[in-house]
Amino acid sequence: MKVLVTGGLGYIGSHTVVELLENGDEVIIIDNLVNSKLEVLEKIKKITGKNATFYQYDLCDYSKVSEVFEKERPDAVIHFAGLKAVGESVSKPLTYYENNLLSTINLLKCMAKYNVKKIVFSSSATVYGKPKTLPIREDASLHTTNPYGTTKLMIENILTDLYNSDSSFDITILRYFNPIGSHKSGLLGENPNGIPNNLMPYVVRVARGELPVLNIFGDDYPTIDGTGVRDYIHVLDLAHGHILALNNKIHGLKIYNLGTGKGTSVLELVKMFEKVNNVKVNYQIVKRRDGDIAECYASSDKAKNELGFTCKYTLEDMCLDSYNYHDAN
Ligand SMILES: NC(=O)c1ccc[n+]([C@@H]2O[C@H](COP(=O)([O-])OP(=O)(O)OC[C@H]3O[C@@H](n4cnc5c(N)ncnc54)[C@H](O)[C@@H]3O)[C@@H](O)[C@H]2O)c1
Repeated sequence: MKVLVTGGLGYIGSHTVVELLENGDEVIIIDNLVNSKLEVLEKIKKITGKNATFYQYDLCDYSKVSEVFEKERPDAVIHFAGLKAVGESVSKPLTYYENNLLSTINLLKCMAKYNVKKIVFSSSATVYGKPKTLPIREDASLHTTNPYGTTKLMIENILTDLYNSDSSFDITILRYFNPIGSHKSGLLGENPNGIPNNLMPYVVRVARGELPVLNIFGDDYPTIDGTGVRDYIHVLDLAHGHILALNNKIHGLKIYNLGTGKGTSVLELVKMFEKVNNVKVNYQIVKRRDGDIAECYASSDKAKNELGFTCKYTLEDMCLDSYNYHDAN
């Protein structure tokens, strides 16, 4: 299959591109490098021995997206591109709405124009807001608490309306839980610029002495040890979920959670990280952060039953691989 991967040099996109190339698929990447580096392309080649075709274009530029469709005529699209920092989305909502929505609308317009009907979209567990029941099933109520999450929900609605208008579209919405870990080669991983927003890159930097202390926001939640519980999933398992979604025999509009189905508290994760990497992570408990929820973990039954999705990697792997990537880089 010839697959157009938007945001293919980013964290999850690059791992998925590797798996596509290893499966013998042809890959076209559009990425404007707003949150990634060109060197990732070389690393992908180093791992796979294969080339992906790369366009350093902004998806918000319709003429550029159209040029790629005209030239490449892909069979399917995996749409990772987007801005993803929750805090930044609160301070720069217009930037988030413009980037995430306009890029998606341009992409979908080109898909309609060039008769490309298969798309896999990166959504997020953030669309569930504060879950009423756990584990969270795909039919749970949806509610967002920040502009980033709202862009994801709006795109889900756009995709649903598009499907309702033209049922020849084959649309898969994947709601990711908390991806961590990195490629086994140590070449690909998550290495955000500046102070990390996500827990794992922060833990790694504290362990390496690059940041003084990890703030754990609240130890008085009704959880196993009082700290927040999330569903961490290895990025390699997540990447594999996209391959399964592309090859799914069920046609139509489908929504799947991609998580392990298992909740892990912040303290459990920190302790595991310290144990497997034989390092110390300085942390301090500070007060709860506004908008945080106590627990969030997936029901992964639907993805298992319909996609055959299961997770291969454990929390140990996730902690080892995350540290290994930062050591190697
Ligand atoms: N990482 C997570 O924790 C997580 C969780 C849930 C959902 N998601 C979603 O998954 C997707 C991929 O996440 P990631 O962690 O790999 O993020 P990432 O920032 O590493 O990758 C996104 C890529 O998209 C590119 N991009 C952004 N806007 C673009 C535009 N207008 N034109 C072209 N390229 C553009 C960036 O340069 C980057 O390489 C995102 O849509 C994100 O919202 C991520």
